[in-house]
Amino acid sequence: PLVTTGELITAAAAARTAVPAFNIITLEHIEAVVAGAESAGAPVVLQVSENAVTFRGGRLLPLARAATAAAEHAAVPVALHLDHVQRDDLLRLAPDAGFGSVMYDASRLPYEENLAATRAAADWAHARGLWIEAELGQVGGKHGEPALDAHAPGARTDPDEARAFVAGSGVDALAVAIGSTHAMTTRTAALDHALLKRLSAALDVPLVLHGSSGVPDDELRTAVEGGIAKVNIGTALNIAMTGAVREFLAARPETVDPRKYLAVGREAMAATVARLIGVVAPRAGT
Ligand code: G3H
Ligand code: ZN
Repeated sequence: PLVTTGELITAAAAARTAVPAFNIITLEHIEAVVAGAESAGAPVVLQVSENAVTFRGGRLLPLARAATAAAEHAAVPVALHLDHVQRDDLLRLAPDAGFGSVMYDASRLPYEENLAATRAAADWAHARGLWIEAELGQVGGKHGEPALDAHAPGARTDPDEARAFVAGSGVDALAVAIGSTHAMTTRTAALDHALLKRLSAALDVPLVLHGSSGVPDDELRTAVEGGIAKVNIGTALNIAMTGAVREFLAARPETVDPRKYLAVGREAMAATVARLIGVVAPRAGT
C-alpha cells in the first residue's frame, strides 16, 4: 500500500532502524525497488529527484503516476518522496501527484537565504500535510554543480548551526554532510561518526544520509546506529542495472528486444535493493 514517508521514518526512528529511499529513473527502477522490498519484507521509499523530472522533459506525472500505482499494489508499505527539489513550481505539484514528502534543497544558497527559502517551503508543505526534509552543509558532488568551497565533498554540517536551522525552518528531517558524496561508483566513503553523534545529540529530528551508494556496509550500519533514519540510495541501482545490461548485450549482441535486457537490469536492481535493505533495516523485515 501507499503510505507516507513521515509514518515510515517515525516508526523506523523509534525502532532505531532506518528506511532506505531509492531514486527511480525508469519504470524498471520502480518495479525493482518494489520487488526488492517485497522480497525483504520491509517498507521502502520511492523517490523522484528533480534531475529525474528534468530527464523526463520536466514532467513529473509520468514517473509519479507509475510509482503511485506500484506503491498501491505493493505487498509492503511504500512511500513516495520528491527529492532535491529546487524549483518552486515542482514543489507545488507534489501533493496532487501523490507525494507525501519532499526534500527541499536550497543548500546551494548562503545560510540565511537557505533558511528563509526553507522556512517558506516548510510552511507551504505543512499547510498541505507534507513531511519536509532539508539540507545543511551540502553533500558534495551533486550533478551539474561546480565544486564550490562550501559545497565540496569535504563539507560538514555544524551541529550548532544545524540546531538553529531546524528550529528556524521548522523542517521534519535534516540531511547532514558527514562525509558521503553523491554519485560515487566505489564504496570508499569514510563517515565522520563522531560528528554524527554530535548532530544526533543536538537535533530532535530524524537525520538523513545522502550519497549512500559510496558508503560501505559497515559504515552504513554504524550510521544507522548513530541516528540516521533515512538512507538515500541512487547510484547503486544504476551500477547494478547498467552492469547487468552491458554484460547481457556483450554476450548476446544480436539482441533487439529491449525486454530481454531490461529484465536482466531490473533483476539486478531488485537484488541490490533487497541486499541494501538487509544492511540498513535488518529488523524491518522480521
Ligand atoms: O538523494 C539522493 C541520494 O543522495 C543518492 O545518492 O546516488 O550517491 O546514492 P547516490
Ligand atoms: Zn541526495
